[in-house]
Amino acid sequence: MLLKEIKDVFHKELDPQFGREEVAHFFYYFVEHYLDLPRFHLAIHPQWIITKEEESHFFKGLSKLKKGVPVQYILGYTTFMDLPFTVNENVLIPRPETEDLVQWILEDHKRSKTTLNVLDIGTGSGCISIALAKYLPNAHVTALDVSKEALAVAKYNAEQNKVNIECLKADVRTLEIGEDAYDIIVSNPPYVLEKEKSKMQDHVKNAEPALALFVPDLQPLLYYEYIAKVAKKALKRGGGLYLEINEQFGKEVSKLLTAHNLINIELRQDFHGKDRFIKSEVNLKSDLQGNL
Ligand SMILES: C[S@@+](CC[C@H](N)C(=O)[O-])C[C@H]1O[C@@H](n2cnc3c(N)ncnc32)[C@H](O)[C@@H]1O
Repeated sequence: MLLKEIKDVFHKELDPQFGREEVAHFFYYFVEHYLDLPRFHLAIHPQWIITKEEESHFFKGLSKLKKGVPVQYILGYTTFMDLPFTVNENVLIPRPETEDLVQWILEDHKRSKTTLNVLDIGTGSGCISIALAKYLPNAHVTALDVSKEALAVAKYNAEQNKVNIECLKADVRTLEIGEDAYDIIVSNPPYVLEKEKSKMQDHVKNAEPALALFVPDLQPLLYYEYIAKVAKKALKRGGGLYLEINEQFGKEVSKLLTAHNLINIELRQDFHGKDRFIKSEVNLKSDLQGNL
């Protein structure tokens, strides 16, 4: 079959569901992955013929896309901070906006000469932990998640990216943690309200793990409360807490952090101009903690 005929089938079958532009992206991902050819190949070789076996990959992928399986799960990988990550249905697909959170940490700490102890709460695929371990050579990173399946993916990704991270299976809600153990705590915790589900695309709400995404409507800040408690105890003086947040709750998360005696609170927007990240620092701990 001609490769261009497959492309036509993709557009005919999938454009109504996803739109022409997104379907073109899917098709080119498949060209790169299954044929190991550059995406512009078809433009140069319009009569390119593919084998029956190659054809079957495209048709299997097409039927999964139709059922709402994200293209990253079909191919089994994605990239984050220019690094390759294996993903499956046990982990959230790393989002481009989360790269801004990592960039913020790199900006603040890339010149640091001392060892940086880092805790990543809710590591999922390990994307934040692994990018920090890769780009901050002094970092000693602990990647924590409640899901053992997610941790297995994070561990595999660390090996693939040739970095050492420590994987810790723990629930942030019951975490026992030592004092002054970390220079950096980072988290992109679940923050999507149950009621926001109806506005989400099917392939996000049905395919990605609910454990990674949702919080009850009446407890939007559930995880931030636990994380702030952990940070207050476990961050060293001057240490930084970096969080990704739901765009609706910038002010509320700021208040919550202040209530936990975190200071120098700074809110940042994502590339759509929405409140998306927040940084805070720990106050003069030993002087104040006794009074809290
Ligand atoms: C939004 S995902 C973030 C994944 C990854 N850090 C990223 O940025 O792509 C949230 C992660 O928190 C984990 N999680 C959910 N509840 C948790 C809990 N109680 N304790 C620790 N981790 C939890 C989920 O398994 C999931 O991997």
